[in-house]
Amino acid sequence: VKRITVPEITARKGGEPIVVLTAYDAPTAEIMDAHCDVLLVGDSLGMAVHGLPSTVGVTLEMMILHGQAVMRGAKRALVVIDMPFGSYEAGKEEAYANAVRVLKETGAQAVKVESGPEVPATIEYLVKRGVPVMGHVGLLPQSINIDGSFKAKGREAAEHARILQSAHDTANAGAFAVVIEGTAEGLAREITQAISKPTIGIGASAACDGQVLVSSDMFGVFDWTPKFVRKYADLRGEMGRAVQAYAEDVKARRFPAEVETYFSKKPATQ
Ligand code: KIV
Ligand code: NA
Repeated sequence: VKRITVPEITARKGGEPIVVLTAYDAPTAEIMDAHCDVLLVGDSLGMAVHGLPSTVGVTLEMMILHGQAVMRGAKRALVVIDMPFGSYEAGKEEAYANAVRVLKETGAQAVKVESGPEVPATIEYLVKRGVPVMGHVGLLPQSINIDGSFKAKGREAAEHARILQSAHDTANAGAFAVVIEGTAEGLAREITQAISKPTIGIGASAACDGQVLVSSDMFGVFDWTPKFVRKYADLRGEMGRAVQAYAEDVKARRFPAEVETYFSKKPATQ
């Protein structure tokens, strides 16, 4: 199988919607591969896999480890890896060194950065030196300690203008696609019409050129569901039922049965 390339994703602007999910491990990536154009190794793995309170504690080593796993599972989808908090903000050269580590050690083709005001200059630096970058505007989870809490953005005029400008700057810096997270529909539509790169929405309406969800959210792994999520499965319920049934079988000595036992020499009964 041939892997989808960065230019192929950029060429989808305004065309068939781009299908993206987050992926963190090899078997799940293998399942997703046939159906998704892009698999994002999101730093949401901090919460989804490691139980952290936010993405701020996620390290470059964690991103590389999960990126390697996803690359082993996915043969066709373009794999994009999030640069974690603190790995790209201090300076362009440090960002480049870290991004190169991610690409070399995982084999993925691209990284993603949250596009705060200082970031477009770094995006330009990376792209000019061979590192494809996906941008991310709107709600920026790595800024949780500045924002205090997360609310959908873009209903207030100044914020709308700031995020629209940020999307322009991110696209002009050379990002091959831009995630829009947690914004009003009007803003997402305006950005999508204004920039020449595909927009990938999460909680950002159907106006975007593609959609992404945190896979654990759409699989129903958590016991709460944000407004923008559609639950396509109830893995929390399904896994809970499986564990309960197993526990009951073990306690009642119903598991393992004879067919699940090697070279069974069942003692003759009575
Ligand atoms: O980390 C992540 O899962 C993301 C998506 C929400 C876009 O950045
Ligand atoms: Na992220």
